[in-house]
Amino acid sequence: MKMKKFVAMTMTAMLGLSLAACGGGGDSESGDSGSNDSGSSAASSDVANKDKPLVWFNRQPSNSSTGELDMTALNFNKDTYYVGFDANQGAELQGEMIKEYIENNIDGLDRNGDGIIGYVLAIGDIGHNDSIARTRGVRKAMGTAVEKDGEINSEPVGTNTDGSAAAVQDGKIEVGGKEYIVRELASQEMKNSAGATWDAATAGNAIGTWSSSFGKEIDIVASNNDGMGMSMFNAWSKDNKVPTFGYDANSDAVAAIAEGYGGTISQHADVQAYLTLRVLRNALDGVDVDTGIGTADDAGNVLSDDVYVYNADERSYYALNVAVVADNYQDFTDSTKIYDPVGNQLDESSHATKKVWLNIYNASDNFLSSTYQPLLQNYDKLLNLEVEYIGGDGQTESNITNRLGNPGQYDAFAINMVKTDNAASYTSLLSQ
Ligand code: BGC
Ligand code: CA
Repeated sequence: MKMKKFVAMTMTAMLGLSLAACGGGGDSESGDSGSNDSGSSAASSDVANKDKPLVWFNRQPSNSSTGELDMTALNFNKDTYYVGFDANQGAELQGEMIKEYIENNIDGLDRNGDGIIGYVLAIGDIGHNDSIARTRGVRKAMGTAVEKDGEINSEPVGTNTDGSAAAVQDGKIEVGGKEYIVRELASQEMKNSAGATWDAATAGNAIGTWSSSFGKEIDIVASNNDGMGMSMFNAWSKDNKVPTFGYDANSDAVAAIAEGYGGTISQHADVQAYLTLRVLRNALDGVDVDTGIGTADDAGNVLSDDVYVYNADERSYYALNVAVVADNYQDFTDSTKIYDPVGNQLDESSHATKKVWLNIYNASDNFLSSTYQPLLQNYDKLLNLEVEYIGGDGQTESNITNRLGNPGQYDAFAINMVKTDNAASYTSLLSQ
């Protein structure tokens, strides 16, 4: 108790200046009187902002160099959670999907017949746990992984056509009694000059550069996500019939499987978008957080445990991933369709409409804008939540935090950070 109060007061003191600069909001009185419950008049409730439900999603508060979870942010108040997906399970699945593809389609796969299966890898964000996990998953399955400090090195190699890069090694795979070398020919973080990561256009340019200098050596294209994967597919691999693998199961990528896209991973965004809003709904209703999740709610909404896991120590819900390949892609053609078992409308009389502030860190992120946000918008009314969607530029946290100048107008918050280290830029605004 005392500790919490001290932290809250320190933050208030430190951020007094930026509060003054925000202005406008008569609802967020400074709490420097030492009173713990600053609960002054708020637009839609009289709960102090620091006590309102908060969910982090898609980018887990964590140290971008070490990956260590930011437990202060994850425990901001008793109604704080993270919603994402199981990054390691998904990453293993992506690697295995590519390996199985090689094993099942070896005839003609080695395009130049040199005995080497060469792949290139598009990396999303070298400081993002999910991106790191996917790079590791591919390298592990391909046998190209090298350990560094007890973990698989996830650094980009630049160009490695001669196999000499230190961050990877040549792997070996035996198919049909024949042994092939597997080589990561090139990998790069797809960051544009303005600083946006997971950048699809940058990936499209990269495959252009790579293919013009060593295109015949490229047998497989792998990507940390579909946005970059599809950009490379459209720019080069589709015409050259080179199987390309991504992640997210966006509708366009799933459709491309019919045209030679190798496969993708569904991170069950339909379950994540539901959980993102559901944990807020439950806190606002003052009911057990498992309501409508592991335990059916009054409308019959419930999730089965094959689609998510909850880790109480990490305050985190993780959706489980599924590989989407030629055999099953027909079941995944619309990535914005809600998950049926949680598609029932809540009754307004017992779940009154509440206001939620929610931001998407990058309004032009392929996955977030074409899959995640449409899903959120399909669930919000079902859960009687009036959500204000804020789109960021993907580069600067302040572009988003500037638009959280009046938290007193909302009952709950859903936050998608630009950088996973930056949780305090948001919680400090809520602590004032
Ligand atoms: C998705 C990426 C997306 C990123 C944004 C990841 O979970 O797979 O496509 O760019 O989230 O944070
Ligand atoms: Ca080859």
